[in-house]
Amino acid sequence: MADYDAQPGRNPPEQPELSAARREADEVDLYAGLTGVAGIVAGARGVIAVLGEVAEFARQAIPGVDGAGDHGAEVFRACVACHNLRADDGVRAGPTLAGIFGRRIATLPGYSFSPALKKLDIVWTPATLSKLFEIGPAAYTPGTKMPEQRIGSAEERERLVKFLERATKNN
Ligand code: HEC
Repeated sequence: MADYDAQPGRNPPEQPELSAARREADEVDLYAGLTGVAGIVAGARGVIAVLGEVAEFARQAIPGVDGAGDHGAEVFRACVACHNLRADDGVRAGPTLAGIFGRRIATLPGYSFSPALKKLDIVWTPATLSKLFEIGPAAYTPGTKMPEQRIGSAEERERLVKFLERATKNN
């Protein structure tokens, strides 16, 4: 002890067990701090990715659509966060609508549909798809995980269907 005291600025070494425990506590703190930050960063990235996709869709030309002034494509903007129109665009929250007309409900391979949907006897046609948004998914497809939404105007439904007929063919 006397040796250390004799050299100002130097402290006696800590007990080995004590300093190990302290180191461990510091590491745990650091780890908790880092995972917290990582979680926030990942969350923010997710939000930015979704916003980016919507913005990207607003810019990109939609296959089968003439471009500006297509009112059906405008109506489809309500769906684009969850559905894509081409089979190879990857899955969003909902199944791809590529090839939807003529397909029986909840039969697209590779998508995990609600069990309730698989029991329904619906084939997607312009009429059934229009009905889905006339009375709403909760009434037309009870038990669905698709959020409730309705398109009140018959004209808008018709435009959406016409758009989907063009945009989901051979995709
Ligand atoms: C917030 C996400 C979300 C939005 C917005 C959304 N959907 Fe969906 N949709 C889903 C999910 C999820 C399913 C699968 C439902 C299930 O398994 O219960 C689905 C299922 C469907 C199905 C049945 C598909 C099949 O293969 O049987 C159709 C058709 C459909 N949506 C059309 C649309 C249209 C058209 C719009 C826009 C007007 C729209 N959806 C908006 C999430 C969404």
